[in-house]
Amino acid sequence: MSNFAMELVVKKEVNMLLLILAVALSILSDSVGASEYVRPLPRENLDFSLKPKPSASSPQQVHISLAGDKHMRVSWITDDTYSPSFVEYGTFSGNYEHTAWGESTSYSYLFYSSGKIHHVVIGPLEDLAVYYYRCGGEGPEFQLRTPPSQLPVAFAVAGDMGQTGWTKSTLDHIDQCKYDVHLLPGDLSYADYLQHRWDTFGELVQPLASARPWMVTEGNHEEERIPLLKEGFQSYNARWKMPSEESGSSSNLYYSFEVAGVHVIMLGSYVDYDGYSEQYDWLKADLSKVDRSKTPWLIALFHVPWYNSNYAHQGEGDGMMAAMEPLLYTAGVDIILAGHVHAYERSKRVYKGRPDLCGAIHITIGDGGNREGLAQKYVHFSILNFCVAQLTIFNTQILKYKEPQPKWSVFREASFGHGELKFVNSSHAYWSWHRNDDDEPVKSDEVWISSLVSSGCTVEKELGKTLYNN
Ligand SMILES: *[C@@H]1O[C@H](CO)[C@@H](O)[C@H](O)[C@H]1NC(C)=O
Ligand SMILES: [Fe+2]
Repeated sequence: MSNFAMELVVKKEVNMLLLILAVALSILSDSVGASEYVRPLPRENLDFSLKPKPSASSPQQVHISLAGDKHMRVSWITDDTYSPSFVEYGTFSGNYEHTAWGESTSYSYLFYSSGKIHHVVIGPLEDLAVYYYRCGGEGPEFQLRTPPSQLPVAFAVAGDMGQTGWTKSTLDHIDQCKYDVHLLPGDLSYADYLQHRWDTFGELVQPLASARPWMVTEGNHEEERIPLLKEGFQSYNARWKMPSEESGSSSNLYYSFEVAGVHVIMLGSYVDYDGYSEQYDWLKADLSKVDRSKTPWLIALFHVPWYNSNYAHQGEGDGMMAAMEPLLYTAGVDIILAGHVHAYERSKRVYKGRPDLCGAIHITIGDGGNREGLAQKYVHFSILNFCVAQLTIFNTQILKYKEPQPKWSVFREASFGHGELKFVNSSHAYWSWHRNDDDEPVKSDEVWISSLVSSGCTVEKELGKTLYNN
Protein backbone atom coordinates (compact mmCIF):
# COMPACT_ATOMS: atom_id res chain seq x y z
CA MET A 1 0.00 0.00 0.00
CA SER A 2 1.36 3.44 -0.87
CA ASN A 3 1.85 6.02 1.86
CA PHE A 4 -1.03 8.03 0.56
CA ALA A 5 -3.46 5.12 0.38
CA MET A 6 -2.41 4.21 3.88
CA GLU A 7 -3.04 7.74 5.01
CA LEU A 8 -6.50 7.67 3.49
CA VAL A 9 -7.33 4.63 5.52
CA VAL A 10 -5.91 6.23 8.63
CA LYS A 11 -8.01 9.37 8.06
CA LYS A 12 -11.10 7.32 8.58
CA GLU A 13 -10.00 6.23 12.02
CA VAL A 14 -10.70 8.10 15.21
CA ASN A 15 -8.60 11.09 16.12
CA MET A 16 -6.99 9.22 18.98
CA LEU A 17 -5.41 6.88 16.51
CA LEU A 18 -4.09 9.83 14.55
CA LEU A 19 -2.65 11.29 17.69
CA ILE A 20 -0.83 8.07 18.48
CA LEU A 21 0.39 7.87 14.91
CA ALA A 22 1.62 11.44 14.96
CA VAL A 23 3.49 10.90 18.20
CA ALA A 24 4.96 7.70 16.84
CA LEU A 25 6.02 9.41 13.64
CA SER A 26 7.58 12.33 15.43
CA ILE A 27 9.53 9.97 17.69
CA LEU A 28 10.60 8.04 14.63
CA SER A 29 11.71 11.11 12.74
CA ASP A 30 13.56 12.40 15.80
CA SER A 31 15.35 9.13 16.23
CA VAL A 32 16.61 9.12 12.66
CA GLY A 33 17.48 12.79 12.96
CA ALA A 34 15.61 13.60 9.75
CA SER A 35 13.23 16.23 11.02
CA GLU A 36 14.09 19.78 10.08
CA TYR A 37 11.13 21.37 11.72
CA VAL A 38 8.58 19.75 13.98
CA ARG A 39 5.20 21.16 13.16
CA PRO A 40 3.25 22.10 16.30
CA LEU A 41 -0.22 20.80 17.04
CA PRO A 42 -3.25 22.95 16.32
CA ARG A 43 -4.37 25.09 19.22
CA GLU A 44 -7.83 25.19 20.73
CA ASN A 45 -10.33 27.95 20.21
CA LEU A 46 -9.70 30.95 22.37
CA ASP A 47 -11.99 31.28 25.31
CA PHE A 48 -13.95 34.52 25.09
CA SER A 49 -15.59 35.40 28.36
CA LEU A 50 -18.27 37.99 27.79
CA LYS A 51 -16.82 41.36 28.50
CA PRO A 52 -19.37 43.74 29.97
CA LYS A 53 -19.87 46.75 27.68
CA PRO A 54 -20.10 50.25 29.09
CA SER A 55 -23.43 50.63 27.30
CA ALA A 56 -25.59 49.00 24.66
CA SER A 57 -24.53 51.67 22.20
CA SER A 58 -20.77 51.12 22.67
CA PRO A 59 -19.13 50.31 19.36
CA GLN A 60 -17.94 46.72 19.09
CA GLN A 61 -15.98 44.83 16.45
CA VAL A 62 -14.72 47.98 14.76
CA HIS A 63 -12.99 47.38 11.46
CA ILE A 64 -12.12 49.49 8.43
CA SER A 65 -11.78 48.82 4.70
CA LEU A 66 -10.84 50.81 1.62
CA ALA A 67 -13.89 52.26 -0.12
CA GLY A 68 -12.80 53.95 -3.33
CA ASP A 69 -10.11 56.53 -3.91
CA LYS A 70 -9.15 58.30 -0.66
CA HIS A 71 -12.12 56.85 1.23
CA MET A 72 -12.53 54.26 3.95
CA ARG A 73 -15.51 52.40 5.30
CA VAL A 74 -15.79 52.15 9.07
CA SER A 75 -17.89 49.19 10.25
CA TRP A 76 -19.00 48.39 13.79
CA ILE A 77 -21.80 46.76 15.75
CA THR A 78 -23.93 47.98 18.63
CA ASP A 79 -26.23 45.92 20.85
CA ASP A 80 -29.03 48.47 20.64
CA THR A 81 -31.00 49.40 17.55
CA TYR A 82 -31.22 53.16 18.06
CA SER A 83 -27.47 54.00 17.93
CA PRO A 84 -26.88 56.41 15.06
CA SER A 85 -24.64 55.45 12.12
CA PHE A 86 -22.15 58.28 12.03
CA VAL A 87 -18.39 58.62 12.43
CA GLU A 88 -16.57 61.68 13.73
CA TYR A 89 -12.97 61.92 12.57
CA GLY A 90 -9.97 64.21 12.22
CA THR A 91 -6.20 64.33 12.30
CA PHE A 92 -5.97 65.42 15.93
CA SER A 93 -6.86 63.26 18.88
CA GLY A 94 -10.11 64.30 20.55
CA ASN A 95 -10.77 66.99 17.96
CA TYR A 96 -13.00 65.76 15.16
CA GLU A 97 -13.32 68.21 12.28
CA HIS A 98 -15.50 65.94 10.16
CA THR A 99 -18.64 63.87 10.54
CA ALA A 100 -19.89 61.32 8.03
CA TRP A 101 -23.22 59.50 8.06
CA GLY A 102 -23.82 56.02 6.72
CA GLU A 103 -26.15 53.06 6.77
CA SER A 104 -26.97 50.11 8.99
CA THR A 105 -28.24 46.59 8.68
CA SER A 106 -28.94 43.54 10.82
CA TYR A 107 -29.88 39.92 10.26
CA SER A 108 -31.25 36.93 12.07
CA TYR A 109 -30.04 33.41 11.66
CA LEU A 110 -32.03 30.60 13.26
CA PHE A 111 -32.20 31.58 16.96
CA TYR A 112 -29.63 34.33 16.66
CA SER A 113 -30.28 38.02 16.07
CA SER A 114 -27.34 40.23 15.23
CA GLY A 115 -26.75 43.63 16.74
CA LYS A 116 -27.06 46.74 14.61
CA ILE A 117 -24.31 46.62 11.99
CA HIS A 118 -23.13 50.10 10.95
CA HIS A 119 -21.20 51.02 7.80
CA VAL A 120 -20.02 54.58 7.30
CA VAL A 121 -17.74 55.82 4.50
CA ILE A 122 -15.36 58.59 5.53
CA GLY A 123 -13.24 60.83 3.33
CA PRO A 124 -11.69 62.25 1.27
CA LEU A 125 -8.69 61.39 3.43
CA GLU A 126 -5.09 62.46 3.09
CA ASP A 127 -2.51 59.86 2.09
CA LEU A 128 -0.29 58.27 4.70
CA ALA A 129 -2.00 60.17 7.49
CA VAL A 130 -3.13 59.17 10.96
CA TYR A 131 -6.80 59.83 11.68
CA TYR A 132 -8.56 59.64 15.03
CA TYR A 133 -12.18 58.58 14.99
CA ARG A 134 -15.18 57.74 17.11
CA CYS A 135 -18.23 55.67 16.18
CA GLY A 136 -21.83 56.75 16.80
CA GLY A 137 -20.87 59.56 19.14
CA GLU A 138 -19.55 57.13 21.77
CA GLY A 139 -16.01 56.51 22.98
CA PRO A 140 -13.48 55.03 22.83
CA GLU A 141 -11.41 56.79 20.23
CA PHE A 142 -9.82 54.68 17.50
CA GLN A 143 -6.87 55.45 15.30
CA LEU A 144 -6.20 54.49 11.69
CA ARG A 145 -3.49 55.15 9.13
CA THR A 146 -4.31 55.67 5.48
CA PRO A 147 -2.16 53.99 2.82
CA PRO A 148 0.22 55.93 0.56
CA SER A 149 -0.89 57.06 -2.90
CA GLN A 150 2.40 56.02 -4.47
CA LEU A 151 4.80 53.12 -4.16
CA PRO A 152 6.21 51.77 -1.95
CA VAL A 153 3.25 50.06 -0.28
CA ALA A 154 3.18 47.01 2.01
CA PHE A 155 0.53 44.36 2.56
CA ALA A 156 0.17 41.81 5.34
CA VAL A 157 -1.40 38.56 4.14
CA ALA A 158 -3.02 35.77 6.15
CA GLY A 159 -5.87 33.44 5.24
CA ASP A 160 -7.95 30.82 7.05
CA MET A 161 -7.69 32.75 10.30
CA GLY A 162 -10.15 31.28 12.77
CA GLN A 163 -9.85 32.25 16.42
CA THR A 164 -7.44 29.92 18.12
CA GLY A 165 -4.21 30.38 20.03
CA TRP A 166 -2.40 30.25 16.69
CA THR A 167 -4.62 32.98 15.27
CA LYS A 168 -3.59 35.15 18.19
CA SER A 169 0.04 34.36 17.51
CA THR A 170 -0.35 35.24 13.80
CA LEU A 171 -2.13 38.49 14.65
CA ASP A 172 0.58 39.44 17.14
CA HIS A 173 3.22 38.96 14.47
CA ILE A 174 1.29 41.00 11.93
CA ASP A 175 0.93 43.71 14.55
CA GLN A 176 4.71 43.88 14.82
CA CYS A 177 5.28 44.40 11.12
CA LYS A 178 5.04 47.61 9.13
CA TYR A 179 2.23 47.43 6.62
CA ASP A 180 -0.52 49.52 5.08
CA VAL A 181 -3.30 47.07 4.22
CA HIS A 182 -4.26 43.58 5.39
CA LEU A 183 -5.26 41.06 2.69
CA LEU A 184 -7.32 38.00 3.63
CA PRO A 185 -7.99 35.32 0.97
CA GLY A 186 -10.99 33.76 2.71
CA ASP A 187 -12.08 31.84 5.81
CA LEU A 188 -12.35 34.44 8.53
CA SER A 189 -14.13 33.44 11.72
CA TYR A 190 -14.83 29.72 11.33
CA ALA A 191 -18.20 30.53 12.88
CA ASP A 192 -19.62 27.55 10.95
CA TYR A 193 -23.28 28.39 11.65
CA LEU A 194 -22.69 29.45 15.27
CA GLN A 195 -23.26 33.17 14.84
CA HIS A 196 -21.82 34.40 18.13
CA ARG A 197 -18.45 33.27 16.80
CA TRP A 198 -18.67 36.02 14.21
CA ASP A 199 -18.91 38.42 17.15
CA THR A 200 -15.96 36.96 19.03
CA PHE A 201 -13.90 37.01 15.83
CA GLY A 202 -14.82 40.67 15.33
CA GLU A 203 -13.60 41.45 18.83
CA LEU A 204 -10.42 39.43 18.37
CA VAL A 205 -9.34 41.29 15.22
CA GLN A 206 -10.53 44.77 16.25
CA PRO A 207 -7.14 46.03 17.52
CA LEU A 208 -5.63 45.42 14.06
CA ALA A 209 -8.67 45.81 11.83
CA SER A 210 -9.64 49.18 13.30
CA ALA A 211 -6.17 50.55 12.55
CA ARG A 212 -5.46 49.26 9.02
CA PRO A 213 -7.92 48.42 6.26
CA TRP A 214 -8.81 44.74 6.09
CA MET A 215 -9.63 43.65 2.55
CA VAL A 216 -11.21 40.22 2.56
CA THR A 217 -12.73 37.75 0.16
CA GLU A 218 -14.88 34.79 1.09
CA GLY A 219 -14.01 31.16 1.73
CA ASN A 220 -16.16 28.08 2.27
CA HIS A 221 -16.48 28.83 5.99
CA GLU A 222 -18.28 32.06 5.17
CA GLU A 223 -21.03 30.32 3.24
CA GLU A 224 -23.19 28.96 6.09
CA ARG A 225 -25.91 28.01 3.66
CA ILE A 226 -28.75 25.82 4.89
CA PRO A 227 -30.71 24.27 2.02
CA LEU A 228 -34.28 25.65 1.84
CA LEU A 229 -33.66 27.86 4.88
CA LYS A 230 -30.71 30.15 4.42
CA GLU A 231 -29.00 31.64 1.41
CA GLY A 232 -25.23 31.60 1.54
CA PHE A 233 -22.97 34.34 2.90
CA GLN A 234 -25.65 36.19 4.85
CA SER A 235 -23.54 36.96 7.93
CA TYR A 236 -20.41 37.60 5.91
CA ASN A 237 -22.13 40.07 3.58
CA ALA A 238 -23.79 41.92 6.45
CA ARG A 239 -20.63 42.24 8.52
CA TRP A 240 -17.79 42.45 6.03
CA LYS A 241 -19.03 44.89 3.43
CA MET A 242 -16.36 45.42 0.79
CA PRO A 243 -16.09 48.08 -1.98
CA SER A 244 -18.04 46.19 -4.62
CA GLU A 245 -20.26 49.13 -5.59
CA GLU A 246 -17.18 51.33 -5.70
CA SER A 247 -15.61 48.89 -8.20
CA GLY A 248 -18.61 48.31 -10.42
CA SER A 249 -19.47 44.88 -9.03
CA SER A 250 -23.02 43.87 -8.17
CA SER A 251 -21.87 41.38 -5.54
CA ASN A 252 -20.04 41.73 -2.24
CA LEU A 253 -18.37 38.43 -3.12
CA TYR A 254 -16.03 39.89 -5.77
CA TYR A 255 -14.63 43.39 -6.28
CA SER A 256 -11.39 45.27 -6.86
CA PHE A 257 -9.52 48.22 -5.42
CA GLU A 258 -6.38 50.22 -6.05
CA VAL A 259 -3.80 51.29 -3.56
CA ALA A 260 -0.62 53.15 -4.45
CA GLY A 261 0.62 51.45 -7.66
CA VAL A 262 -1.23 48.17 -7.18
CA HIS A 263 -4.53 47.03 -8.67
CA VAL A 264 -5.98 44.25 -6.48
CA ILE A 265 -8.71 41.91 -7.71
CA MET A 266 -10.69 39.93 -5.13
CA LEU A 267 -12.53 36.99 -6.68
CA GLY A 268 -15.08 34.52 -5.33
CA SER A 269 -14.29 30.81 -5.43
CA TYR A 270 -17.87 30.00 -4.41
CA VAL A 271 -19.69 32.21 -6.91
CA ASP A 272 -20.31 31.26 -10.57
CA TYR A 273 -17.15 31.87 -12.52
CA ASP A 274 -17.71 30.32 -15.93
CA GLY A 275 -17.69 32.30 -19.18
CA TYR A 276 -21.41 33.12 -18.89
CA SER A 277 -21.34 34.27 -15.29
CA GLU A 278 -21.69 37.79 -13.94
CA GLN A 279 -18.42 37.40 -12.11
CA TYR A 280 -16.62 36.60 -15.37
CA ASP A 281 -18.14 39.60 -17.13
CA TRP A 282 -17.25 41.85 -14.25
CA LEU A 283 -13.67 40.53 -14.19
CA LYS A 284 -13.25 41.18 -17.91
CA ALA A 285 -14.57 44.72 -17.54
CA ASP A 286 -12.40 45.37 -14.49
CA LEU A 287 -9.24 44.12 -16.21
CA SER A 288 -9.92 46.36 -19.19
CA LYS A 289 -9.85 49.38 -16.86
CA VAL A 290 -6.41 48.61 -15.44
CA ASP A 291 -3.87 51.24 -16.46
CA ARG A 292 -0.39 49.81 -16.00
CA SER A 293 1.23 53.24 -16.16
CA LYS A 294 -0.77 54.11 -13.02
CA THR A 295 -0.78 50.67 -11.37
CA PRO A 296 2.23 48.74 -12.70
CA TRP A 297 1.37 45.85 -10.35
CA LEU A 298 -1.66 43.65 -10.84
CA ILE A 299 -2.52 40.99 -8.26
CA ALA A 300 -5.51 38.75 -7.52
CA LEU A 301 -6.84 36.90 -4.48
CA PHE A 302 -9.37 34.10 -4.06
CA HIS A 303 -9.87 31.22 -1.67
CA VAL A 304 -9.25 27.92 -3.47
CA PRO A 305 -5.72 27.67 -4.92
CA TRP A 306 -5.17 26.73 -8.56
CA TYR A 307 -1.61 25.58 -8.02
CA ASN A 308 -1.46 23.27 -5.05
CA SER A 309 0.74 20.21 -4.69
CA ASN A 310 -0.75 19.25 -1.34
CA TYR A 311 -3.14 16.32 -1.24
CA ALA A 312 -5.55 18.48 0.74
CA HIS A 313 -8.20 20.03 -1.55
CA GLN A 314 -6.42 18.61 -4.57
CA GLY A 315 -8.10 19.68 -7.81
CA GLU A 316 -10.80 21.81 -6.16
CA GLY A 317 -9.63 24.93 -7.98
CA ASP A 318 -9.51 23.28 -11.42
CA GLY A 319 -12.91 24.51 -12.66
CA MET A 320 -12.25 28.13 -11.80
CA MET A 321 -8.74 27.88 -13.17
CA ALA A 322 -9.96 26.54 -16.51
CA ALA A 323 -12.47 29.38 -16.74
CA MET A 324 -10.36 32.29 -15.58
CA GLU A 325 -6.65 31.59 -15.88
CA PRO A 326 -6.46 32.66 -19.58
CA LEU A 327 -8.12 35.96 -18.71
CA LEU A 328 -5.71 36.69 -15.87
CA TYR A 329 -2.73 35.57 -17.96
CA THR A 330 -3.66 37.80 -20.88
CA ALA A 331 -4.09 40.73 -18.53
CA GLY A 332 -0.64 40.08 -17.06
CA VAL A 333 -1.48 39.34 -13.42
CA ASP A 334 1.76 39.32 -11.43
CA ILE A 335 0.86 37.50 -8.22
CA ILE A 336 -2.09 35.35 -7.11
CA LEU A 337 -2.75 34.70 -3.40
CA ALA A 338 -5.03 31.92 -2.19
CA GLY A 339 -5.90 30.13 1.05
CA HIS A 340 -7.99 27.04 1.83
CA VAL A 341 -5.10 24.60 2.09
CA HIS A 342 -3.76 25.05 5.60
CA ALA A 343 -0.19 25.24 4.55
CA TYR A 344 2.20 27.44 2.62
CA GLU A 345 3.31 27.00 -0.98
CA ARG A 346 4.94 29.34 -3.50
CA SER A 347 5.20 28.72 -7.24
CA LYS A 348 7.37 30.00 -10.04
CA ARG A 349 5.72 32.11 -12.68
CA VAL A 350 3.41 29.56 -14.24
CA TYR A 351 0.63 29.18 -16.79
CA LYS A 352 -1.43 26.14 -17.77
CA GLY A 353 0.55 23.96 -15.40
CA ARG A 354 3.92 24.84 -16.86
CA PRO A 355 6.58 27.34 -15.80
CA ASP A 356 6.07 30.46 -17.93
CA LEU A 357 8.03 33.68 -17.46
CA CYS A 358 4.94 35.75 -18.29
CA GLY A 359 2.59 33.82 -15.96
CA ALA A 360 1.61 34.64 -12.37
CA ILE A 361 3.35 33.59 -9.18
CA HIS A 362 0.86 31.60 -7.09
CA ILE A 363 1.09 31.67 -3.32
CA THR A 364 -1.06 29.56 -1.01
CA ILE A 365 -1.23 31.06 2.44
CA GLY A 366 -4.14 29.35 4.21
CA ASP A 367 -2.22 28.99 7.42
CA GLY A 368 -3.47 31.84 9.62
CA GLY A 369 -4.25 29.53 12.53
CA ASN A 370 -7.77 28.11 12.40
CA ARG A 371 -9.11 25.37 14.65
CA GLU A 372 -9.15 22.69 12.00
CA GLY A 373 -5.42 22.43 12.22
CA LEU A 374 -3.22 22.09 9.23
CA ALA A 375 -4.93 20.84 6.07
CA GLN A 376 -8.20 19.25 7.08
CA LYS A 377 -10.75 18.25 4.49
CA TYR A 378 -13.46 20.66 3.41
CA VAL A 379 -16.71 19.90 5.20
CA HIS A 380 -19.94 20.04 3.21
CA PHE A 381 -23.12 20.73 5.11
CA SER A 382 -24.91 17.78 6.56
CA ILE A 383 -26.11 17.05 10.08
CA LEU A 384 -23.20 14.72 10.63
CA ASN A 385 -20.64 17.09 9.20
CA PHE A 386 -22.15 19.94 11.16
CA CYS A 387 -21.54 18.00 14.36
CA VAL A 388 -18.03 17.11 13.32
CA ALA A 389 -17.32 20.75 12.47
CA GLN A 390 -18.39 21.82 15.93
CA LEU A 391 -16.01 19.48 17.71
CA THR A 392 -12.74 21.13 18.50
CA ILE A 393 -10.48 18.27 17.87
CA PHE A 394 -6.78 18.00 17.87
CA ASN A 395 -6.71 16.99 14.31
CA THR A 396 -3.28 15.67 13.72
CA GLN A 397 -3.90 14.67 10.17
CA ILE A 398 -0.54 14.50 8.54
CA LEU A 399 -0.15 16.85 5.66
CA LYS A 400 1.18 15.24 2.57
CA TYR A 401 2.67 16.68 -0.56
CA LYS A 402 2.70 15.12 -3.97
CA GLU A 403 6.06 13.68 -4.90
CA PRO A 404 8.05 14.52 -6.84
CA GLN A 405 7.51 18.25 -6.28
CA PRO A 406 5.97 19.65 -9.49
CA LYS A 407 8.28 21.77 -11.67
CA TRP A 408 6.27 24.89 -10.92
CA SER A 409 6.47 24.51 -7.14
CA VAL A 410 9.34 26.31 -5.40
CA PHE A 411 8.69 26.15 -1.66
CA ARG A 412 6.11 24.28 0.40
CA GLU A 413 5.67 23.78 4.11
CA ALA A 414 2.78 23.00 6.43
CA SER A 415 3.06 25.53 9.23
CA PHE A 416 1.02 28.42 10.54
CA GLY A 417 2.24 31.87 9.66
CA HIS A 418 1.67 35.05 7.69
CA GLY A 419 3.06 36.74 4.59
CA GLU A 420 4.34 40.24 3.87
CA LEU A 421 4.24 41.68 0.37
CA LYS A 422 6.10 44.93 -0.26
CA PHE A 423 5.88 46.65 -3.61
CA VAL A 424 9.07 48.68 -3.59
CA ASN A 425 8.84 50.36 -7.00
CA SER A 426 7.33 49.61 -10.39
CA SER A 427 9.81 46.82 -11.09
CA HIS A 428 10.52 45.19 -7.72
CA ALA A 429 8.45 43.57 -4.99
CA TYR A 430 9.63 41.64 -1.97
CA TRP A 431 7.66 38.70 -0.61
CA SER A 432 8.38 36.98 2.68
CA TRP A 433 6.61 34.27 4.63
CA HIS A 434 6.94 34.12 8.39
CA ARG A 435 6.27 30.88 10.17
CA ASN A 436 4.88 30.92 13.73
CA ASP A 437 7.76 29.00 15.16
CA ASP A 438 6.98 28.52 18.85
CA ASP A 439 5.32 31.93 18.72
CA GLU A 440 8.28 33.68 17.11
CA PRO A 441 7.74 35.03 13.60
CA VAL A 442 10.60 33.31 11.80
CA LYS A 443 11.19 34.39 8.23
CA SER A 444 11.06 31.10 6.37
CA ASP A 445 10.77 31.97 2.72
CA GLU A 446 11.61 35.16 0.87
CA VAL A 447 11.96 36.22 -2.74
CA TRP A 448 12.40 39.32 -4.86
CA ILE A 449 9.79 39.47 -7.60
CA SER A 450 10.23 41.54 -10.72
CA SER A 451 7.11 42.85 -12.39
CA LEU A 452 5.69 41.69 -15.70
CA VAL A 453 5.66 45.35 -16.73
CA SER A 454 9.44 45.57 -16.26
CA SER A 455 10.11 42.28 -18.05
CA GLY A 456 8.19 43.37 -21.14
CA CYS A 457 5.50 40.68 -20.79
CA THR A 458 2.62 43.13 -20.61
CA VAL A 459 3.69 44.91 -23.81
CA GLU A 460 4.18 41.56 -25.51
CA LYS A 461 0.71 40.49 -24.47
CA GLU A 462 -0.83 43.75 -25.66
CA LEU A 463 0.79 43.19 -29.06
CA GLY A 464 -0.32 39.57 -29.09
CA LYS A 465 -3.87 40.63 -28.32
CA THR A 466 -3.83 43.17 -31.15
CA LEU A 467 -2.47 40.64 -33.62
CA TYR A 468 -5.04 38.14 -32.51
CA ASN A 469 -7.89 40.62 -32.74
CA ASN A 470 -6.86 41.61 -36.25
C1 LIG B 1 13.63 49.28 -7.54
O1 LIG B 1 13.99 48.68 -6.34
C2 LIG B 1 15.07 47.76 -6.45
C3 LIG B 1 15.25 47.08 -5.12
O2 LIG B 1 15.43 47.99 -4.09
C4 LIG B 1 16.31 48.47 -6.93
O3 LIG B 1 17.37 47.54 -7.09
C5 LIG B 1 16.02 49.14 -8.27
O4 LIG B 1 17.12 49.88 -8.69
C6 LIG B 1 14.79 50.03 -8.13
N1 LIG B 1 14.44 50.55 -9.45
C7 LIG B 1 14.19 51.81 -9.69
C8 LIG B 1 13.81 52.17 -11.09
O5 LIG B 1 14.26 52.65 -8.80
FE1 LIG C 1 -11.35 26.94 3.18
